[in-house]
Amino acid sequence: MAELSETTQQSIDYSQRIPNNVDLTNDRALQRALEHWQPAFLHWWDETGPVNTSQLQVYLRTAVSVDREGWANFGYVRMPEYRWGIFLTPQDEHRKINFGDHKGEPAWQEIPGEYRSTLRRIIVTQGDTEPASVEQQKLLGATCPSLYDLRNLFQVNVEEGRHLWAMVYLLHRYFGRDGREEAEALLQRRSGDPNNPRILTAFNEKTSNWLAFFMFTFFTDRDGKFQLCALAESGFDPLARTTRFMLTEEAHHMFVGESGIARVLQRTCEVMRDKKLSDPAQVRAQGVIDLETLQRFVNFHYSVTLDLYGADISSNAASFYTGGLKGRYEETKINDDHSLSEAHYTVQEVENGKIVDRQVPALTALNARLRDDYTREIQAGIDRWNRIPETFGIPVRITLPHSAFHRKIGNFAGHYISPEGRVLSKEEWERHSPEWLPSDEDHAFVGSLMGRVVEPGRFANWIAPPARGIKNLPIEFEYVRFS
Ligand SMILES: [Fe+2]
Ligand SMILES: [Fe+2]
Repeated sequence: MAELSETTQQSIDYSQRIPNNVDLTNDRALQRALEHWQPAFLHWWDETGPVNTSQLQVYLRTAVSVDREGWANFGYVRMPEYRWGIFLTPQDEHRKINFGDHKGEPAWQEIPGEYRSTLRRIIVTQGDTEPASVEQQKLLGATCPSLYDLRNLFQVNVEEGRHLWAMVYLLHRYFGRDGREEAEALLQRRSGDPNNPRILTAFNEKTSNWLAFFMFTFFTDRDGKFQLCALAESGFDPLARTTRFMLTEEAHHMFVGESGIARVLQRTCEVMRDKKLSDPAQVRAQGVIDLETLQRFVNFHYSVTLDLYGADISSNAASFYTGGLKGRYEETKINDDHSLSEAHYTVQEVENGKIVDRQVPALTALNARLRDDYTREIQAGIDRWNRIPETFGIPVRITLPHSAFHRKIGNFAGHYISPEGRVLSKEEWERHSPEWLPSDEDHAFVGSLMGRVVEPGRFANWIAPPARGIKNLPIEFEYVRFS
């Protein structure tokens, strides 16, 4: 708390306290706005960030500049003292808008009046997910499977905090008073609060155990990556540059998820091979997570994350594109007219009890397209996971459910569809869905495995150690100190 009150004093060296490459010391208005916002941010962190962690010393990466040496400084930090910085990838003065009606014009350095409220909404929606995930994960520290994992959780948490700073910087710098109000509101909404929830549904779900955390960082942080990639194409240059830098951090979050699940698979497969087991109840009796439960978690996290892409057919997505606000994934690598005036795209929908393809104007199907790009990357990750049971000679494979499965938004909302893509009656769905989605009992079982392992180099029984430590340090390094 001493730290907290110190930061509320006026005389702060902001280039020190807030590492940045936006010349904060010479922007008095912005400095003043951030001087107001920072104590509120720290209060939010204290109230709803990782529980009981303010005294821990965590071996964290802090970005202090955007160049190669500066963006990944490692050292022990108490999290409330983490230096949440503001970084944009350096400006390319010749950058042009690469798509939509403004294609070929110089990228905007200030916000065009006609797009002001739309851009604000886009930035607030992105910004809202960042503190939300910290809130969802706040209790996980109490049940960490190792110090290595605990440190990774906290790294993800402080960086999501920095991503909030990144969006708040844009709101304060470019949107005046309504930007400041939105920045306040970002600290007031709470994940799962029925009265003042976070904006997107998946960010109001609980992340109640480490299996859910690894699934979340694999599936949902990767949605974050694709949204950021689309915004990194924006004609509004500060947004493009901010999100580009965020992507460097997002890569680690997805690594945490992918390697986390891989280690769970590794451990389960070891036990199945050594004890010659395949029955899930017997596998569970060994204190590891059976492959069937893993599959149900995959089904859940994949389907709720797909909903984050919004409606398959969307006039908003079309106008974001035409306006030059939000591009496609890897827009500049795509070889077409970048205006999509003639192009078509295939989406799927339910017709007469079957899933059918439909050609629609590509401009209206940009959400579906981004989601399909995402699914390709997810599938590649699943294929990597599946090498693990293969190596152990275990015939089970993790599969992705059909994109129509368990959807609440888009063309399949209101339909009952099996993981294989078969349209079902409500009764059939109710009969079978417990086989497909994690039950209360699955959660209770996974929850029962969650102990607290904090002895350096030790790992909970349900997860294998990682292949290597952070920054080439040994696995038994003391990644978190408790004094
Ligand atoms: Fe983020
Ligand atoms: Fe993330």
